[in-house]
Amino acid sequence: MAGPHYLSDRAIALQPSLTLAISARAKALQQEGRDICSLSAGEPDFDTPGFIIDAAVHALRKGMTRYGPAAGDPELREAIALKLSKENGVPTETEQVLVTNGGKQAIFNLFQVILNPGDEVLLPAPYWLSYPQMAHLAGAQVKLLPSTTETGFYLDLNSLEAAIGPKTRLLLLNSPGNPTGRVMPYEELEGVAELLRDYPQILVMSDEIYELLLCDGQKHHSFSAVAPDLADRTFIVNGFAKGWAMTGWRLGYLAGPADAIKAATALQSQSTSNVCSFAQRGALAALQGSRQCVNTMASSYSSRREVLTNGLMAIEGVQLVAPQGAFYAFPQLPPGSLDSMSFCKQALENYGLAMVPGAAFGDDSCIRLTCAASHETICDGLERLSKALKKT
Ligand SMILES: Cc1ncc(COP(=O)(O)O)c(C=O)c1O
Repeated sequence: MAGPHYLSDRAIALQPSLTLAISARAKALQQEGRDICSLSAGEPDFDTPGFIIDAAVHALRKGMTRYGPAAGDPELREAIALKLSKENGVPTETEQVLVTNGGKQAIFNLFQVILNPGDEVLLPAPYWLSYPQMAHLAGAQVKLLPSTTETGFYLDLNSLEAAIGPKTRLLLLNSPGNPTGRVMPYEELEGVAELLRDYPQILVMSDEIYELLLCDGQKHHSFSAVAPDLADRTFIVNGFAKGWAMTGWRLGYLAGPADAIKAATALQSQSTSNVCSFAQRGALAALQGSRQCVNTMASSYSSRREVLTNGLMAIEGVQLVAPQGAFYAFPQLPPGSLDSMSFCKQALENYGLAMVPGAAFGDDSCIRLTCAASHETICDGLERLSKALKKT
């Protein structure tokens, strides 16, 4: 057995984030005085809107400093249920909502309460890098459903059906997606739903954390709204981190069938208890307040996404499926390029450009860049990328 003798098998099997090495190196180079251009961030570059901060500060001053209910602040749960019912077209009761420490804990809790060792999870690739690790922590196996730049990252229903076996328990969906920025159209979701009607044992998790960050003309569809008849086996993961620029607050939620929410609440009560009480008041203000701030941030990403997209498309040999939401682009390196990790390492060492290798997301031919950076940084990054590509 590898690793120190006291580590559990679980800990030994856990893969440290591939991206950490690159970010650590980028930081070290910066500290050495190197001029580093970073397009590797996975978070908004805005501060949390003031009225949300005020609500949390007010709650703190009023003495919301004690334990709260494990499932979350009742008012916040109710506001989330209302939001899902009204905005997403997914009728939801308060008891169907669990407030979690970020979307991440929503996914972790869900996997722990619905997956048994040996169960299989179907994961469309490229995927957000934490899904496989969290599935493994629940003892489940991950079966990838690869998609490519050539097919616009379309989820192929034939491959999906072919991957279904007796142990298949869960299908993961993520739209708008990280790392591709792709928004699954209504018809594609409908196709998935149609297929799943023949497989009543398969549950669905729909990660909608980027729902508010869309290009003009794009529409987000919640899987449960497309297929209300499957709502009794569909879970929604969402949160405040991306839409409201609240990554550090650690506020997310899980919504779905009440019995699973009850189990996830019990798990949370025995692990992290409730999400920070006064922070939840900030989330409540976010939901109840004007969406102007969200719209302003979303349109700022849109203009910068366009700069990044156009810039990438102008680089010879680079193939890009234009992102339709979130704040990433996931271009494919020209044929004959290095693998994504080696390319990113070289781009960092030689051109001071930090990006995330596609290998971290299950596609070694691509790299992920963010548009949550200033116009200048994006343009600088595009220039450095062009130079790096010419040299490889
Ligand atoms: C697709 C996706 N889901 C979930 C999360 C988790 O978000 P958080 O835990 O910060 O709410 C992230 C964060 O990067 C993400 O990209």
